Amino acid sequence: MTLPRLAFLGTGYLGATYAICFAELGYEVLGFDVDEAKISKLASGAVPFHEPGLDDLLRRNLAAGRLRFTTAYEDVADFGDVHFICVGTPQRADGMGADLSYVESAVTRLAPLLRRRALIVGKSTVPVGTAAWVEQLVAKHADPALGVEVAWSPEFLQEGYAVEDVLRPSRIVCGVASEWARERLHAAHKGVFDLAATEDRDVPVVVTDFATAELVKVAANAFLATKISFINAMAEVCEVAGADVTQLSRAIGYDPRIGNRFLQAGLGFGGGCLPKDIRAFQARAQELGAGEALRFLHEVDLINTRRRSRALTLAAQLLGRPVGPAGPDLSGTEIAVLGATFKPNSDDVRDAPSLAVAAALSAAGAHVRVYDPQGMDNARRAQPALAYAESMVAAVTDVSLVLVATEWPEFRNADPVVLGELVAERRVIDGRNCLDPRQWARAGWSYRGIGRPPA
Ligand code: UGA
Repeated sequence: MTLPRLAFLGTGYLGATYAICFAELGYEVLGFDVDEAKISKLASGAVPFHEPGLDDLLRRNLAAGRLRFTTAYEDVADFGDVHFICVGTPQRADGMGADLSYVESAVTRLAPLLRRRALIVGKSTVPVGTAAWVEQLVAKHADPALGVEVAWSPEFLQEGYAVEDVLRPSRIVCGVASEWARERLHAAHKGVFDLAATEDRDVPVVVTDFATAELVKVAANAFLATKISFINAMAEVCEVAGADVTQLSRAIGYDPRIGNRFLQAGLGFGGGCLPKDIRAFQARAQELGAGEALRFLHEVDLINTRRRSRALTLAAQLLGRPVGPAGPDLSGTEIAVLGATFKPNSDDVRDAPSLAVAAALSAAGAHVRVYDPQGMDNARRAQPALAYAESMVAAVTDVSLVLVATEWPEFRNADPVVLGELVAERRVIDGRNCLDPRQWARAGWSYRGIGRPPA
C-alpha cells in the first residue's frame, strides 16, 4: 500500500512535532504555517521550541528529503492526501471559550484549492461540535464533486515526552463519518501501527463519531486536571491536620483503581492546555445546557490557583512577615525562585505557576531572582519586570529564601550543603515536593513543602 502524503497545517508545538515524527515514520510530509519566520527556522533544521529529541529527527528527515515546509496554501493543496489541522485554539478574550478563527481560516483557505479527494483531519483541541461545523465549511468551500471528507483525531502528547507520545501513542481516536475516512485515517497512522508491531505492542484504536472524538480530548484533560486538584485539596487538609500529602498520595496510588500518576501535590497545573481546556469545556457545556455537569471544574480551577497564594503565605511565614488582608508584606526580602517553566523538560512558560508566584512575590515587595535551565528567554518575554539570574548559584547567592517552583533535575539533585554556603539564610519552600526534607533539614535548612509538616 502506498502511504498517503501528509500535510500538517500549523507548525506550532503540536503540528511541528507531528510533522517531524511522521516523516521519521516514513511518510512524505509537508508542514505549513502562515508564520514565515517559523517556517524558515524549521526548514533550516532548527526547532523553534525545546523538545527533547526533536532537533535530531528534524535534521535527519530534512536531509532524507521526506520533510518539507511551506507558507503557501497552494503547495499544501497540491501535496496532501490527508491534511491535519494543528492550528492553535487559544482562550477567547472573554477568558472562557475557545477562539476557532485559526481553524476557520485554515479550512476555508485550503478547501477551495483542493483538486482531488482528500481527508481533512482535525487535531487541535476544540469545543464539541467543531468537526460538524468544519464539515459544513468544507461542503461550502470545496468542489462537491471531489468528495473531500472530515475526520477528528485528537492528540494526547505531553510536552517533554512528545516524540515518544507521537511515535508510541497510548491510543488513537478516530472520529469519522464514513468507511472511506476510517480507512484513510488508518493509512495515515500505518507507520505507528507498523512500529508497534516490530516492538510487539498493540496500539488501541477507538473508532467513533465526531462529537465523541472531540469530547475524549477535553474529558481526558479535565480528568487529569481534576486528579491534580484533588491531591492539592488533600494537601490543604494535610496542612491543617499535620499530615503528609506525599505519603498519602503514595498510599492511595497503590490502589490500581486510583493509580499513582498525576497525584503530585505542589503549585498546581499550568501550561497551554489544562487551564485553558477546562475553562473552554465549561463554557461549551454551558452553551449546550449541561453547565451544571461541569460545575466542579470551576472548583478544580479555584483549588489550582489557591496553591499559588499558599506559596506566598508560606514565604511570609518562613520569613516571619505579617500577612494582612491585602496579602503578605515581603518588602526588603531577597528570594530566589528556581524554575520558570510550567514543568521540567520544557521551555514553555504559558500559565506557569512558577512565574505567576515569582511575579506575586515581587508584587508583595520581595526582590526576586528567577533562574530556569531552559525557559529564560520565554520567561523574560512574559515577565520582563522580574530579575533573572544566569545560574542556580547566581540566583541563590545571598538570598534569605529559596523557592523551588519547577522540579528540574538540577534543582531536585542540588546539594543543600553547597547551597547552604551561598545563601544568607537557609530557608527553602519546596513548591513541587521534589526535595528530601530530612536531607535539607540535616544541612541546617528550614524546609517547608506543600501539604507536608515543616522539617
Ligand atoms: C497535557 C496532557 O497531559 C496531555 O495528555 C495533553 O495532550 C496536553 O495537555 C494537551 O492538551 O496538548 P502538558 O500540558 O504537556 O500535557 O502537561 P502535563 O504533563 O499534563 O502537566 C500539566 C501541569 O500539571 C504541569 O504544570 C505540571 O507541573 C502539573 N502537574 C502534573 C502537577 O502539578 N501534578 C502532577 O501530579 C502532574
